[in-house]
Amino acid sequence: MTDKIYIFDTTLRDGEQSPGASMNLEEKVQIAEILEEMNVDIIEAGFPIASNGDFESVQEISKNIKNSTIAGLARAKLTDIDRAWEAVKHAESPRIHTFIATSPVHMKYKLKKNENEVLEAIKQTVTYARNLCPNIEWSCEDAGRSEINFLFKCIELAIECGATTINIPDTVGYTLPDEFGKIFKEVKNNVKNVDKVILSSHTHNDLGLATANNIAAIKEGARQIECTINGLGERAGNSSLEEIVMTLKVKKDLMPYHTDIKTESIIKASRLVSSITGFTVQPNKAIVGANAFAHEAGIHQDGMLKHAGTYEIMTPESVGLKQSSLVLGKHSGKHAFSKKLKELGYDFGDNALMELFGRFKDLADKKKEIFEEDLIALADDRSASYDEHIKFVSLGVNAGSLEKHEAKLSMIIEETKKSTVSSGNGPVDATFNAIKQLTNTDFRLKLYQVHAITAGTDAQGEVTVRLEDDQILSQAKGSDSDIIVASAKAYISALNRLVFKKSKSIVNKSAEIKIGGV
Ligand code: KIV
Ligand code: ZN
Repeated sequence: MTDKIYIFDTTLRDGEQSPGASMNLEEKVQIAEILEEMNVDIIEAGFPIASNGDFESVQEISKNIKNSTIAGLARAKLTDIDRAWEAVKHAESPRIHTFIATSPVHMKYKLKKNENEVLEAIKQTVTYARNLCPNIEWSCEDAGRSEINFLFKCIELAIECGATTINIPDTVGYTLPDEFGKIFKEVKNNVKNVDKVILSSHTHNDLGLATANNIAAIKEGARQIECTINGLGERAGNSSLEEIVMTLKVKKDLMPYHTDIKTESIIKASRLVSSITGFTVQPNKAIVGANAFAHEAGIHQDGMLKHAGTYEIMTPESVGLKQSSLVLGKHSGKHAFSKKLKELGYDFGDNALMELFGRFKDLADKKKEIFEEDLIALADDRSASYDEHIKFVSLGVNAGSLEKHEAKLSMIIEETKKSTVSSGNGPVDATFNAIKQLTNTDFRLKLYQVHAITAGTDAQGEVTVRLEDDQILSQAKGSDSDIIVASAKAYISALNRLVFKKSKSIVNKSAEIKIGGV
């Protein structure tokens, strides 16, 4: 039997730190459930001290998930550790993950502590955490830029104080694979009690090297890998779960390791995370991008028809991808519709299903052929309805080169229907002005992006909108066969998320957000 690599998924913690990503409690539980179904060994469910919302979701996940270890993050502070323990203690297998920075730049400017003070903090906090919980992960933040002899001292001390996993992060995505692998090799050779713990690797993708660095770490002794679905995470993101797991599977001849991950659930998890966060997966993203198994060039297609192995190093089925094909038409019934959604990984309750079926029928009237991508967009649109205080009702626009650009918009705001007419510099601008006027908000539009879901002029348009206020970001998608309607839906969804995020933020605890002047 080959060595097992433990998969530690941090989509719900580092992933949620992606600028603009936000999830509510129900959505976090949904993601945790699919991670459990995939056999993820450890789920980092959040950072309980960060907000009440974070605490509640870590607690709820701890109560719901039975087969994965649940970790809660804590800084090197006793209050953080107490809060993390309170949140994870109900789990079948709880873990406290505590960290402190060990690099000169972080110690001097961020912590304002010298080496001895950092060592003292490690001793105090790891000992304290271990008295609460038998499973303790300790991380040396910014290990990639830490002085190696100081790193040995810190790791040895954390193990002496009871840490059971030592995580070595390349926090700023700065190291090269050789350089990062060498840190693990040296830790193995120089820390006398290192055999008592599992070594873990946590990498960031600032130079696009996150997965390569994790692979280098495995080769030098790491047996736990920290990663996220779709590579979400701070700044350029973390190493992605799908890349690590599939690399180990595809390259098992050269890398004698295995994971317990059910790879056939990868696409389902990727789609769920994308629909919940509003983060579209780039088409050429390894493993889960829309083009990852598409063959465009004639010579490639010819090779594929003769033998799939000519251009495919893994099968689409191994990651849970089924042939994209024409799936449903306007005569399809509710049963076939619900069955197809289930196959695609969506499970809606009766009311949501009825509403969605109505929208499917409307779409099928406008568009002859309905593809899987259309159904995914419809379902994503539905699951993105985020604590909807503001709901889209209808929109009419004057557009074109001869008309004054105007939008006539109706929405339901806090259960009251409101309508307005606004003008703007183009139909999208007029629509966004109407939303701002009705909600009495004026958040900053940081991103507006449109793409066609399938080919053809009758294709649905998918719009992504990112809004910002007081350094809080939110992002959402909307889809419709009319791109101005899709734009309105995406804006409204991002607005609902921003309002929710602001109301949950401890930083903005006192900032009451008024919608529509209510
Ligand atoms: O990148 C990092 O250093 C982290 C730690 C909290 C593990 O996310
Ligand atoms: Zn990180």
